[in-house]
Amino acid sequence: MMNSVAIDFSAWAQAKQRHIEEVLDTVLPSTQTSPQKLHSAMRYSALGGGKRVRALLCFAASELCQTETSFTDAAACAVELIHAYSLVHDDMPCMDDDDLRRGKPSCHKQYDDATALLVGDALQSLAFDVLSQPQLTKQASQQVSMLSILAKASGSSGMAGGQAIDLESVGKVLTQTELENMHSLKTGALIQAAVLLGAMDGSELEIIAVKKYAACIGLAFQVVDDILDVEADTSTLGKTAGKDADSNKPTYVSILGLAQAKQHAQQLYSDAVAALTPFGEKAKRLRELADFIMQRSF
Ligand code: IPE
Ligand code: IPE
Ligand code: MG
Ligand code: MG
Ligand code: MG
Repeated sequence: MMNSVAIDFSAWAQAKQRHIEEVLDTVLPSTQTSPQKLHSAMRYSALGGGKRVRALLCFAASELCQTETSFTDAAACAVELIHAYSLVHDDMPCMDDDDLRRGKPSCHKQYDDATALLVGDALQSLAFDVLSQPQLTKQASQQVSMLSILAKASGSSGMAGGQAIDLESVGKVLTQTELENMHSLKTGALIQAAVLLGAMDGSELEIIAVKKYAACIGLAFQVVDDILDVEADTSTLGKTAGKDADSNKPTYVSILGLAQAKQHAQQLYSDAVAALTPFGEKAKRLRELADFIMQRSF
């Protein structure tokens, strides 16, 4: 049974998940508009699935720092679009070759490889389009710096770079430092961008603290993903379980073992939550999201 704190968080998260779904629905091109197959595949990959953790982190950071709402909506939407693109490409035969995503055939299975490639390209461009809209009431210089945060987190110094290291590392035994670097880039960078974009109207102190929180929880997110790949089943995950071991990927579980990987995730969680101490109740959603990231079953 859920206690009242859990009910409160769950109601907040569900309302925000519904909201981001509406924002995404509005910005994604209609399937009636040419090229219809590409637009249909973009909507297939970005709508109707996923936990929306990055959007929730952006909203929670925005609540702490009282960032203006329309900007937070755009930021959360842009980050979820980049994330959806990363999943479409991650599943392609030239990468992880995964047939299942969010409980449905992955984009290249439902459509075809060329379409999946273009879906990734187009979702990425749409993300930057959304974040660069002139009607967002931010100073141009502030808006440009936010675009830069998202660009760096997505590119070779962030997600794409981490994915390159991931592919290069198949069959290798990485040191824990190398593994941490790979995970921080492929997953942590975009999670940190989600938090920083949400925190953009925060004080210097708030921004330093949430940056530390995000670095720890972003890494913990991928450690938990590695653990779930071993412990959860395919129908719960909505993606193929056991894929990392089958593909010879170095993960926290393969390097440290299951028990130590769990301990490490717990340490990262504690460090993340400790960074929020100065903010008390104001940071409750970020704290609750850290719990959610640790306790999730998929
Ligand atoms: C999966 O991310 C890919 C990783 C970076 C580990 P999520 O677990 O957030 O996927 P969705 O968005 O909920 O499907
Ligand atoms: C994916 O890591 C990170 C991305 C940038 C998409 P994984 O390859 O472990 O993600 P899943 O397990 O397929 O969701
Ligand atoms: Mg991968
Ligand atoms: Mg994968
Ligand atoms: Mg995984």
